[in-house]
Amino acid sequence: MIKRVIGLHFSPNGGTAKIIERITRDLAIDLDSYLASDVEYACYDMLEAINEQPVIDEEAVVIIGMPVHIGKIPLPAIRLLRELNGKGALTIALVSYGTATYGNALYELYSYAEERGFTIIGAGAFIAKHGRKNSVHLLRPDLDDIEAMEEFCRAISHKLKRLSGSEVAGLRLKPAPLMIEGKMPVHKVSRFSPRAAEVAEHTFERANIVIRRKPEWFL
Ligand SMILES: Cc1cc2nc3c(=O)[nH]c(=O)nc-3n(C[C@H](O)[C@H](O)[C@H](O)COP(=O)(O)O)c2cc1C
Repeated sequence: MIKRVIGLHFSPNGGTAKIIERITRDLAIDLDSYLASDVEYACYDMLEAINEQPVIDEEAVVIIGMPVHIGKIPLPAIRLLRELNGKGALTIALVSYGTATYGNALYELYSYAEERGFTIIGAGAFIAKHGRKNSVHLLRPDLDDIEAMEEFCRAISHKLKRLSGSEVAGLRLKPAPLMIEGKMPVHKVSRFSPRAAEVAEHTFERANIVIRRKPEWFL
């Protein structure tokens, strides 16, 4: 039985936090009315010292969100993720990106989270405001991006209801693995030179200006 929805975010500029807070709240409200029981929810900033540790177990649904930095998850975020124990909790892995590309980041988050015992049942890449002032996509996220997020939320809620209904005497069916393409990236550039990383990322962003990237998800 699902008793709580926990949002965890690593969000230096606050964009990922906004996405996670919204999805955590909407999902908890929806599950609460469906399950006719009190489903609590709370969000935690992974960058802050947490006084009260979230209870992560099989009664929790966890939503983990991280930003994309040069097509990858930032190294400090990976370190923080490695301190967690998922204990089999049904989990949604999300990355936020600034319209260029999310590269290997979603695959990376999916892989590291599974390694830490989280059972990933859904994953998505959503647009957040680019932290950089001179970003070429000042008007994103727009209404379409927000609508896509709401649609994802409905789809994931539907999947969770199906999965919670398939519990028989405490046994939960193992969800099928998600088909996220990618490989584990090497964090070379950002480790040795933050400046080189910044230049590479900016060039990358300019090269991608002609393509309108959309949110994507996997269930
Ligand atoms: C150092 C750095 C690298 C970035 N690299 C990418 C990238 O490769 N692709 C992309 O679409 N956005 C990129 N962005 C934009 C961020 O992914 C986007 O702004 C993210 O949603 C910020 O999350 P936050 O507000 O939670 O920090 C980068 C931003 C920074 C600061």
